[in-house]
Amino acid sequence: MNDIPPSSVTGELLKRPRIALYPGTFDPITNGHIDIIERGLNLFDRIVVTIAVNVQKIPLFSLEERSTMIQECFKDSERVTVGSTEGLIVDYARQHSAQAIIRGLRAVSDFDYEFQLALMNRRLERTVETVFFMTGFRWIYISSSGIKNAARCGGNITGLVPEHVERALQEKFA
Ligand code: COA
Repeated sequence: MNDIPPSSVTGELLKRPRIALYPGTFDPITNGHIDIIERGLNLFDRIVVTIAVNVQKIPLFSLEERSTMIQECFKDSERVTVGSTEGLIVDYARQHSAQAIIRGLRAVSDFDYEFQLALMNRRLERTVETVFFMTGFRWIYISSSGIKNAARCGGNITGLVPEHVERALQEKFA
């Protein structure tokens, strides 16, 4: 049987490392985010967790604190790096030669916003695809705000965030 050689373009694409950005506010990173990153690592060679600016949010943790907390989660994985940008996600994707933007979907209610974000990003940069992962069932109901609210009121957040993030939240609200 004759094997059809890949075209030079396809061949080049196959040789390139598959890189994805995973943008968000990460204020703070939760086990739900980690679940998405782990799923992403099944498809991508590298993931750049990108702390980005959501103009509608005033973060509790500084950029440096959020970055350190994420780095701690992935200190044993060379395939996950942490970055930040105050600009457009698609520009940052281009700078990192990323072919994709990862987003997590928790419930149907996420879809409308995600759809708009993905289409806007595609409008801004056609070569970067948005890829959605379904969040693990255990994390469907969690959000950074929900966890911060619970921690602020002294609620038990064990198991929803990594231990070092739990400690950081307790220190913030001590
Ligand atoms: N598990 C648990 N929680 C999750 C989750 C998961 N898998 N996925 C999302 N969440 C939570 C987040 O913690 C966040 O909680 P919060 O609202 O309580 O803080 C919430 O769901 C929303 O997360 P997300 O949709 O990722 O919003 P964000 O504020 O974290 O990120 C940006 C939005 C930063 C990605 C977006 O504003 C952006 O792209 N900004 C850059 C500027 C840009 O490029 N703009 C052009 C596009 S319009």
